[in-house]
Amino acid sequence: MHSILVTGGCGFIGSNFIRCLLTESGFSGRVVNVDKLTYAGNPENLTDIAEQFPDRYVFVRADICDRSAMTDVFARFAIDAVCHFAAESHVDRSIVAPEGFIKTNVDGTFTLLEVARERADRLMLFHHVSTDEVYGSLGPEGYFSEETAYRPNSPYSASKAASDHLVRAYHHTYGLPVTISNCTNNYGPFQFPEKLIPLMILNAAEGKPLPVYGQGRNVRDWLHVMDHCRAVWAIMQGGKRGETYNIGGRCELANIDAVALICDLLDEILPDAALGPRRGLITFVKDRPGHDLRYAIDSRKIERDLGWTPQVTFETGLRQTIQWYLGHRAWVQRVRTGEYQRWVQQHYGNG
Ligand code: NAD
Ligand code: TYD
Repeated sequence: MHSILVTGGCGFIGSNFIRCLLTESGFSGRVVNVDKLTYAGNPENLTDIAEQFPDRYVFVRADICDRSAMTDVFARFAIDAVCHFAAESHVDRSIVAPEGFIKTNVDGTFTLLEVARERADRLMLFHHVSTDEVYGSLGPEGYFSEETAYRPNSPYSASKAASDHLVRAYHHTYGLPVTISNCTNNYGPFQFPEKLIPLMILNAAEGKPLPVYGQGRNVRDWLHVMDHCRAVWAIMQGGKRGETYNIGGRCELANIDAVALICDLLDEILPDAALGPRRGLITFVKDRPGHDLRYAIDSRKIERDLGWTPQVTFETGLRQTIQWYLGHRAWVQRVRTGEYQRWVQQHYGNG
């Protein structure tokens, strides 16, 4: 692989992946980052990388649904591998406004697959990044394996499931060299503060209420974003074409316990006598419609076949993540106020 197209590289996981690729993976080629720059895409996440690797990092603002733009990118940069992150990714938004999820996650993936099929002569790999949410919801027992039937419950997970099926079908029908990964919930630096962990860190730091849905008994399996990035790279290097790999943190926590831990760590790192223990900020709010009870991944296949295991424990990763958000207040401020969206408009226009 000499020229990798990373889609959605200005988002949370994509930007961490590009940093991982260029600074620690051993990859010596070029990375082409295609991102539409939605509310969740922030080019500032990679300013240091753009400066450090002017010859090996290229950013193109484009929509993955735009077929002629994608054809142009594949040809202009002689793309020989794809790592596809671009997606609408927030379940709550998908409940309020599902259409954009179908457009980007389904139509966008289809468009990329079609362009990749036209370039099949030089394409070595199309890696598709997906979620464990396609499997639906677990009860108190059991795990999602690569054999678990798909039963998506939200417009987000249904759109990701549809894209997974398309990727699989392009391998089966056209022989496109694909791999797919389904990962559990990620946390870490650069995550947009609409998701549970960064939202709770920032609200707790600022003494604001911590809105826990329902009774907080829903369980998520947490994985540090860098562990996810290393897993994706391991699959891209050694994964068998046509196969799916599940990636999990072996770190199940009920939401209420994750939020309580954030409170306790912040009480230690950022004591505020006037506020009292931050657990007092926890506020139970109306549950999410169709809220999946539990996700948990059986990641024995990637551990056994590719030798990947998570390196970052939840408490260590959470401490680092809290420190990161506390140390990047200007980033948080700009993301929250939409200041970077104004900058994107000035810099790149409305396209
Ligand atoms: P994110 O919302 O932070 O970033 C998504 C990125 O895609 C943004 O930069 C956005 O601008 C870009 N994008 C959106 N629509 C686009 C379009 N039409 N064309 C080009 N770019 C577009 O998401 P994330 O949390 O980084 O997730 C990345 C991928 O990983 C997604 O496919 C998601 O389903 C998957 N995933 C996420 C998690 C998680 O916990 N966050 C877990 C498992 C899998
Ligand atoms: P989220 O970070 O949105 O990820 P996902 O829905 O993809 O798992 O939410 C993680 C869990 O936290 C989920 O069970 C919903 C819950 N949650 C809250 O309780 N309060 C919140 O404000 C948010 C955003 C999520």
